[in-house]
Amino acid sequence: MSKKAKVLFSKDFAIAKVDERLYGSFIEHLGRAVYGGIYQPDHATADEDGFRGDVLELVRDLRVPIIRYPGGNFVSNYFWEDGVGPVAQRPRRLDVAWRSTEPNWVGTDEFARWCKKAGSEVMMAVNLGTRGVEDAMNLLEYCNHLGGSKYSDLRIAHGAKEPYNFKVWCLGNELDGAWQVGHKTMQEYGRIAAQTAKAMKMFDPNIELVAVGSSSAGMRTFPEWEAKVLDLTYDCVDYISLHQYYGKRKEDTPNFLAKTLEMEHFIKTVVATCDYIKAKQRSKKTMMLSFDEWNVWYHSNADDEKIMKNQPWQVAPALLEDLYTFEDALLVGLMLISLLKHCDRVRMACLAQLVNVIAPIMTEQNGAAWAQPTYYPYLHVSNFGRGVALQPVLSCGKHDTRDFTDVTDIDSVAVYDEESSALTVFAVNRDLEDAIAFDVDLRDFPGYRLVEHISLTCDNLLQRNSATSQAVAPKKEQTGVLDNGLYQTRLQKASWNVLRFAAK
Ligand code: AHR
Repeated sequence: MSKKAKVLFSKDFAIAKVDERLYGSFIEHLGRAVYGGIYQPDHATADEDGFRGDVLELVRDLRVPIIRYPGGNFVSNYFWEDGVGPVAQRPRRLDVAWRSTEPNWVGTDEFARWCKKAGSEVMMAVNLGTRGVEDAMNLLEYCNHLGGSKYSDLRIAHGAKEPYNFKVWCLGNELDGAWQVGHKTMQEYGRIAAQTAKAMKMFDPNIELVAVGSSSAGMRTFPEWEAKVLDLTYDCVDYISLHQYYGKRKEDTPNFLAKTLEMEHFIKTVVATCDYIKAKQRSKKTMMLSFDEWNVWYHSNADDEKIMKNQPWQVAPALLEDLYTFEDALLVGLMLISLLKHCDRVRMACLAQLVNVIAPIMTEQNGAAWAQPTYYPYLHVSNFGRGVALQPVLSCGKHDTRDFTDVTDIDSVAVYDEESSALTVFAVNRDLEDAIAFDVDLRDFPGYRLVEHISLTCDNLLQRNSATSQAVAPKKEQTGVLDNGLYQTRLQKASWNVLRFAAK
């Protein structure tokens, strides 16, 4: 008998309005993300600022609302002053995090200009690894003050008359990790984060600050780190960060595709920890979450180690250039669904990263920019997932995997855009063998019709794309049957699906 699933979406079961910054991304001075990625003056498509036009085009299509910068591990020993002013006078620096040489051809001003062209906001990170309060304040003054002070006048002298008014600032990066330059205990980090946050908010109370949370749910200090750090910073920060990457190492695909159960457990634990500190401090404020590094990451690990060990101190070495497969795209789709299901508390998130480095967009040095399989679920959710997220009332089969029990064969969520009345259902069929008959109960959306059913499917779970082949690319599915408020269709085995409905 064929497999069946049913989902009901109703405006009465709203999760929250999606903060569009849930679809953020990340550019770090790492590998070929900046040099050879967004910036390559000798490329055929380069504009007057040296930015690759082909990359900008792919980024604009993604409608990335906010981009974290300049790191990452890189930021923990970054001297932002090196990256401003006349390029010819900028020093070359050793970046110990990635054992590379940073030429500082691109810095704060260039990145702000690139983001403007890309239609994105900047999420700026300050160095709390080797530096502290003073440095963060100077950078904030450089970026956000109108003029008439040392650093704001410096920015104006560098050609940027108007302040950038960056709204979101990260108070360092992964300082719980032993690999981080300036690695700190939770007590040390909580103190420096609180001091920096207070000083930055004295300058501009309207900025939003992100405190560093755990580098992954697997950290030995998780979730004690969150509890301690929030206890010291609760009043003066607005978000706590989460980072998580998943890799498929010695496991099978069903277990890999079930990793979002762990991701959701991670989110729920951080929410519970935030709410515990809220109760402890008798606070009225609810702490929000910034999932500002998430992705699949494992293909390049061995090569990266070799490059950093045997050929260190290159400018823009090819690091973290994961070539993603179709099944990685399915997990990215599932992770996006998980973020949407928790968007009442996860207000911002960054797909890490955007170009060349564990990225949906890759570039050839003398050739084209191209989309990895993971580009597509991100493209769909960013474009069609704006509005109010709706809780799925889902009934479907379940299965067990090596590490997980009761994994639903399907995962799904919907977003309803009040302005345009559009309703979009996102769904992944995790079943690798069979298509599943999928009934979508739309009785709360009378008169709606299907606009299109887009899917990502592939017979080979390990299929990749390249500069010359888009073997994994979206296609249109046949329209199903809509009868009496029930839309009946099929989700192909191992598939990513976008069902777009509109009011007639
Ligand atoms: O995104 C790659 C790296 O992953 C970042 O630099 C770091 O923050 C994380 O460990």
